[in-house]
Amino acid sequence: MTTTLITGANKGIGRETARRLVEAGHTVYVGARDAERGRRAAEELGARFVLLDVTDDATVEAAAKTVEAAGGLDVLINNAGIETRTEDNGVPVAATVTGDQMRNTFETNVFGVVRVLHAFLPLLERSAAPVVVNVSSGLASLTHLSDPDHPAHFYPGIAYPTSKAAVNMLTVQYAKAFPGMRINSVEPGFTRTDLNGNTGTQTVEEAAEIIVRMAQVAPDGPTGGFFDINGPLPW
Ligand SMILES: NC(=O)c1ccc[n+]([C@@H]2O[C@H](COP(=O)([O-])OP(=O)(O)OC[C@H]3O[C@@H](n4cnc5c(N)ncnc54)[C@H](OP(=O)(O)O)[C@@H]3O)[C@@H](O)[C@H]2O)c1
Repeated sequence: MTTTLITGANKGIGRETARRLVEAGHTVYVGARDAERGRRAAEELGARFVLLDVTDDATVEAAAKTVEAAGGLDVLINNAGIETRTEDNGVPVAATVTGDQMRNTFETNVFGVVRVLHAFLPLLERSAAPVVVNVSSGLASLTHLSDPDHPAHFYPGIAYPTSKAAVNMLTVQYAKAFPGMRINSVEPGFTRTDLNGNTGTQTVEEAAEIIVRMAQVAPDGPTGGFFDINGPLPW
């Protein structure tokens, strides 16, 4: 039996990923920072709830103790994320971003991933087939955002793509450090969720597909890579 924790799984892509992995037979922990919404989602999905705010050491450490006491962890999906939007007031967005906005975005998207990994790596090391999926973004690709011919080139924000590029480097470095684990970054695609005011062009069902696939990667499958539904992506 595979036990899986998904951070930020009370709604959006994380919730749909939880639904799919419950369906696939995993014991799924819905990690959520709001107990009521997290518990409700877990009940609706036939999953377990664990309180987990990725910006808060105490809840992350308590969550690791809870999951450990119940038998351990095989798959960690670092899904919780925020996109700090900066209004376009006629000046380049790059001129308006502040150090505080950067810190705020990194606190969840980057430091949150490290905080959760730090707490759960000891559990994953005891799994026979440990897997980590870091939910990155196509906007993390330095290759695509620097290519004037690529659709992602238009994106003007600073904090979000920078944070997801950092997530990709976490994937590379942790994958080298833990060769017995399969650790990959995924790009779910531009999806209608609260993250982007529901402006995305695809459904959460479509977005969850690559996360579910990489959560079920075989022990001899890829590690240290960056993938979307069509295959490897350039960094
Ligand atoms: N939507 C897209 O187009 C798109 C594209 C590429 C990548 N992604 C990535 O996909 C992931 C999921 O995003 P989504 O689109 O599903 O967004 P969403 O609907 O806004 O869901 C984000 C989830 O993260 C949780 N979260 C935020 N901060 C947290 C914290 N400090 N601790 C714990 N949970 C926290 C939210 O919880 P609350 O309900 O409490 O806020 C929510 O459950 C993110 O990493 C995002 O960057 C999304």
